[in-house]
Amino acid sequence: MSDIKIKIIDREGVSHEVDAPTDMNMNLMEVVRSYELAPEGTIGICGGMAMCASCQCYVQSEHELPEKSDDEEAMLAEAFFVKDNSRLGCQIHITEDLDGLEVELAPAED
Ligand code: FES
Repeated sequence: MSDIKIKIIDREGVSHEVDAPTDMNMNLMEVVRSYELAPEGTIGICGGMAMCASCQCYVQSEHELPEKSDDEEAMLAEAFFVKDNSRLGCQIHITEDLDGLEVELAPAED
């Protein structure tokens, strides 16, 4: 198992290419937090339960992602700044298939 590369554009529009491990059962929200690409307290507020949308991001690359769960659909239906390519980062698990993924963090809701 190895790391994959993910490009993450932060809320200031700055692009970061980071290594994400595929063998630590991490999700995208946790990767963003581990690299401190969003201020503490503005992302991952519900702890990754698909209940806050603070981890919303826009998927910019053409990767096939797993279907949204009903919980993710419901949360995105209520969230602000939602676009067609919105996903909840906490629901995207880091796998080898996602090498080269490009995402942009959605604005903070407050
Ligand atoms: S961290 Fe709350 S929905 Fe993802």
